[in-house]
Amino acid sequence: MNETQKLAERGSKVIMNTYSRFPIAFDHGEGMYVWDMDGKKYLDFVAGIAVNSLGYSNRKLGKMIADQSMRLMHVSNLYYTEPQITLAEMLCQNSCFDKVFFCNSGAETIEAALKIARKYAVMKGKPGRDIIAMEKSFHGRTYGAVTATGQDKYHKGLDPMLPGIKHVPFNDFEALKNAVDENTCAILMEPVQGEGGIRPAESQYLKAVRALCDEKDIVLLFDEVQCGVGRTGYLFAYQAYGVEPDGACFAKGLAGGVPIGAFMAKDSLAEAFKPGDHASTFGGNPFATACGTVVMDELLNGGILENVKKQGSLLTQKLMELKKKHKIIADVRGIGLIQGIELTIPAGDVIADCIQNGLLLVGAGANVIRFVPALIVSEKEINEAVEILDRCLCEAEKK
Ligand SMILES: Cc1ncc(COP(=O)(O)O)c(C=O)c1O
Repeated sequence: MNETQKLAERGSKVIMNTYSRFPIAFDHGEGMYVWDMDGKKYLDFVAGIAVNSLGYSNRKLGKMIADQSMRLMHVSNLYYTEPQITLAEMLCQNSCFDKVFFCNSGAETIEAALKIARKYAVMKGKPGRDIIAMEKSFHGRTYGAVTATGQDKYHKGLDPMLPGIKHVPFNDFEALKNAVDENTCAILMEPVQGEGGIRPAESQYLKAVRALCDEKDIVLLFDEVQCGVGRTGYLFAYQAYGVEPDGACFAKGLAGGVPIGAFMAKDSLAEAFKPGDHASTFGGNPFATACGTVVMDELLNGGILENVKKQGSLLTQKLMELKKKHKIIADVRGIGLIQGIELTIPAGDVIADCIQNGLLLVGAGANVIRFVPALIVSEKEINEAVEILDRCLCEAEKK
């Protein structure tokens, strides 16, 4: 038994069985690469599922982690801290939003979004509390977030779900318009659906949704947990579309691997939360937010957004070339460094083969392979990933 197998066996005895894990145990990482317990090297196009925005072992982030942990790790939100305010300023000054609520994960930002939308309806004296979300969406695993998630498989055995949330097909404006009534208080969507299969919203659709929300005073909420924070080549995904939501959810890559969530809103929506309406013990603590300032600084001043745009176009071009070559690729979709290929066969075997060959990839639904590498990925690494994938697709076609 090697070290990886030994650790997997220990883990299976004490870790609750909620993930179907690969029999791999990781030890350390550097840049775009990660090594298992037995020294096998992998090129990582998963990045902790769109989390490790600056790659592994980023020096600036590491230094901040060391410094801030020895300076001030956590105090209650009963007080102010400098890193929390600085990160909130960086987020607000570079977006259409005015206020931030910090928490610790993507699902928690969704909870904040759902709660504030209903509070907004109360504040405005509107009768309804209904929220419309999208089919094939993914918003997380807490009760509100999983109810908003538009995939039945995540609801199995959990009934009764949170009342007042319904789903309509994504990118179908007529369906959305028909679903809206006087009880609708909010519409929630991912500008680029991630887990549901890497499906970008159509630009015209988002513009029409914005106009509908304006007309009916409905809160428009974007879930940018996966597609935000630089991944589209814009700081925030809404900026790639030029359509401003009233509130939006950010998490994953915002602190480069340190748990964080940020729900942001324009003042018109933010004022619906009053003292005592919402809270989080850890949310926005000086440690996590100091790490967030490093990521934001790199995104704004370190040439990362330009890199995402450049490498994103290269990745699209390379995936389109693969589509010409391989009949089992049905579609190539995405923006920047959130891309996917839809296969005519289940994606699982191809992904497993890529992993065997030293390339980490993750699925997005049954038939889609997702590409969400660190935002520092280089041309060389994209070429390396595409070469491995190409070989594995050849093998899959032979079967
Ligand atoms: C779009 C989107 N929203 C919300 C979530 C939930 O985030 P978390 O797992 O941090 O709770 C995810 C996680 O994959 C996501 O992709």
